Parts: sequence; structure tokens; C-alpha cells
Amino acid sequence: MKLTKHIFLIGFMGVGKTSTSRELSKKLQVAETDTDAMIVEREQRSIAKIFEESGEAYFRSVETGMLDELAQESPCIVSCGGGMAMRDENVRKMKESGTVIFLTATPETIYEHVKDSTDRPLLNGNMNVPYIQKLMEQREPKYSAAADIFIATDGNTPDEVADKIIQALEVEG
Ligand code: S3P
Repeated sequence: MKLTKHIFLIGFMGVGKTSTSRELSKKLQVAETDTDAMIVEREQRSIAKIFEESGEAYFRSVETGMLDELAQESPCIVSCGGGMAMRDENVRKMKESGTVIFLTATPETIYEHVKDSTDRPLLNGNMNVPYIQKLMEQREPKYSAAADIFIATDGNTPDEVADKIIQALEVEG
């Protein structure tokens, strides 16, 4: 499949955007990138450190800047940080340069994926299903409004999720 625009993977922390993006990249033979990794590389410090030293607002502005940079690049697969779709400005930028794919999962699945993680500042001290559910419900309208394609991932491996995405893209044409 020849990509004519970017593929943006959005969705809650721990839904599997990064691992799905890697599988998709292999299957489509298209490069992939990850906005969190781009930011860490640029800032030479971890996401946790950026939040701690410079605050979330600073992180969000760097995140938006990554979309401007990506708009200049040839089409690739972009795994987005979980908060990317929360800013309308970011959604506009993603829609201008790509197809937005929203990966969904239940709070229980998310919890299983993130429970041992220490590098997600928003979940530090909040590592439980009720909190994840609450934040997910708050964010859901923004994710849904941003999405061109919805992919349910519960019970699927990243490899299977990548296949579902390819099928959905083929249907979209
Ligand atoms: C965030 C998600 C994280 C990272 C940062 C904030 C969020 O990315 O960008 O910790 O607001 O949901 P992942 O979705 O890759 O964990």
C-alpha cells in the first residue's frame, strides 16, 4: 500500500499505539515515528523530567511543534502521545496531513498494560482502573471527534491490530 499522507495513531496511554505502529511499519514497509520519542530526543530528557522541570503546558507546546515538523516529512506512521488529540489545534494539524486512527480499549486492558510503568506522569499516584476510566471518559469526546477510523483493540495483539488498520484503510480507499 502506498501512503499518500501520514497515518496518526491516537488513543489513551497504554492502548498499544507504539507497538502497533511498529507492526504497521513492517507490514506497509513505511517508516514510523513516535511523538514522545521525538520529544525525548529533542529535549534530551525523559517525559517525566519534562513534566517535572518544565510543566505539562511546556510539554504540550513541544508536542504541537512536532506536528508542524511532521507536516514537512514524507508520509509515515506516527504514534502520538495519548494527549495529542486534546488540543483542537493538534487535531486540525493531524487532519491536514493525514488519516487519524483512534485505537480503543477498556480501562481494564489499559490498566494491565500500564500498571508497572513509571514514565507516565499523569498516572503517577493514579494507577488504578477507576482513575483510568474517569480520565478516559473525559477524553473520549475529543478522541472520537478527531478520529477518521476507530479500531477496537481488546483481545488483539499489535500484529492483529495492524491488520485491522490495513483492512480499514483499504475500505476507506
Ligand atoms: C500522555 C501520554 C503519554 C505522554 C505523556 C502524556 C497523555 O504518551 O505523551 O505522558 O496525556 O495521555 P503515551 O500515550 O504514549 O503513554
